Amino acid sequence: MAHTENFRKVAEVGDIPLGEGEGFDVGGIEIAVFNTGDEYYAISNRCSHQHAPLCKAGERKINAEDTWTDERGGVDTEACTVSCPWHLWEWDLETGEHEASGQRIGTFDCTVEDGDILVRI
Ligand code: FES
Repeated sequence: MAHTENFRKVAEVGDIPLGEGEGFDVGGIEIAVFNTGDEYYAISNRCSHQHAPLCKAGERKINAEDTWTDERGGVDTEACTVSCPWHLWEWDLETGEHEASGQRIGTFDCTVEDGDILVRI
């Protein structure tokens, strides 16, 4: 188990549906873990544009005011990206990059062991 030494369990396989993400607080850092089918990806849960929670991508009700009634943003499992639920900036789940602006948000190593989803901060 040496290779997962500094990893922390955030969820179990099956907790995060395919094409969706979930937010976690890991040691005070807000991360979102997304399931693309082939892999799980851990990325900062805060969009660098106006700090929307990326784990809400694809949901209908994304804030208290229920501003949008349709799904906003979501995961593209083929392109391996998530688009932000607020203004649809598209983030690369692997690199944390938003190509159009050149901005980058944090990404974290994520692995599965014995049915547990583990993240290294
Ligand atoms: S807050 Fe994410 S695109 Fe604006």
